[in-house]
Amino acid sequence: MEIFARNGVVSRSRETLAHILEAVNQTKAITRIASDIELFVQEYGMAAVHLRGIHRKTGLVVIIKVGTSSRENSWTKKLHKVMSDLVPKVYASGAKLGNIKVHWMAMEAIPFGLGDSWKGKEFDLLLDAGIRFYQASTKINDPTLLETTQETVKKWLQRSLIKRPPGPIDNLLAKVYDHWGLIDEKCGREVAFDDFHLANVMTKEPPPNSRSAILIDIHPRRQPWILDPAYLQVLNSNDPNRPGHKNLISRMARKRKDADLRSLESDELEMASKIALGWMAARQWKPEVAKKQPEYRAVYEKFISEASEI
Ligand SMILES: Nc1ncnc2c1ncn2[C@@H]1O[C@H](COP(=O)(O)OP(=O)(O)O)[C@@H](O)[C@H]1O
Ligand SMILES: [Mg+2]
Repeated sequence: MEIFARNGVVSRSRETLAHILEAVNQTKAITRIASDIELFVQEYGMAAVHLRGIHRKTGLVVIIKVGTSSRENSWTKKLHKVMSDLVPKVYASGAKLGNIKVHWMAMEAIPFGLGDSWKGKEFDLLLDAGIRFYQASTKINDPTLLETTQETVKKWLQRSLIKRPPGPIDNLLAKVYDHWGLIDEKCGREVAFDDFHLANVMTKEPPPNSRSAILIDIHPRRQPWILDPAYLQVLNSNDPNRPGHKNLISRMARKRKDADLRSLESDELEMASKIALGWMAARQWKPEVAKKQPEYRAVYEKFISEASEI
């Protein structure tokens, strides 16, 4: 049975979910570790389907993610070896589930998500986890890692055209190679987290107590680090009153400097930030959100306009 829908994500039809549950229960590498397995379908999960069970030895919850990739599996395991409090512990992983060809991972459950109940602290927890990710990643060798280049960014902008983002998008597209040259020179390329947002980070303690966070959904890419906080900023700028959401790029730059990672400051930081925010705003623009949220268009228009002026 095909469990992937046409857009490449695991289908959530009742039939497919039942088939996945059955296949999980037929997979010894999982049933050896966990009992009482049930579906645990996530609202914010995009590509995968999750299940949960009880760890036979410890009685703790085990999360089974179906629809990972071989890179996600290997990087989560490697990162846990390098820095055990950065990602969940992986109990088992594989590329087949019963008779279905799909990558999966059974891992430690991390109980709390990072949302606005943290009253702004969620952003610092994620930025700090990002710093630890950059540090741990330098110890992992992966010659097959995907890389973001000027052509990748050009494609983001070209693809955005059909969604008609606000602001001078043609102008931004015309400058893409010059802008890329600047960002590449100032930031360099390193292993970045890429999908750096609040639904890909969890904590072991409830708000307001946790002092560090755990990253999930590991899909690293070689690219300029500034794209990580720029993406996070663009995704979290609609509500001007939300505590802790401002200046995420300069805060990341400061934390990088304190951690002895390559960083930027003053005019260079401002220029690079504007460009990265403009690119991400174009890439992330969703016309359907603009219809529902009054602030959205103006915020994205500002990002795109400021970038195109550089
Ligand atoms: N190890 C885990 N412990 C607890 N919840 C998890 C764990 N992994 C995933 N989840 C839950 O599932 C959601 C989606 O997981 P994620 O790995 O990001 O899937 P996707 O690739 O579909 O985005 C998370 O936001 C979280 O709520
Ligand atoms: Mg995710």
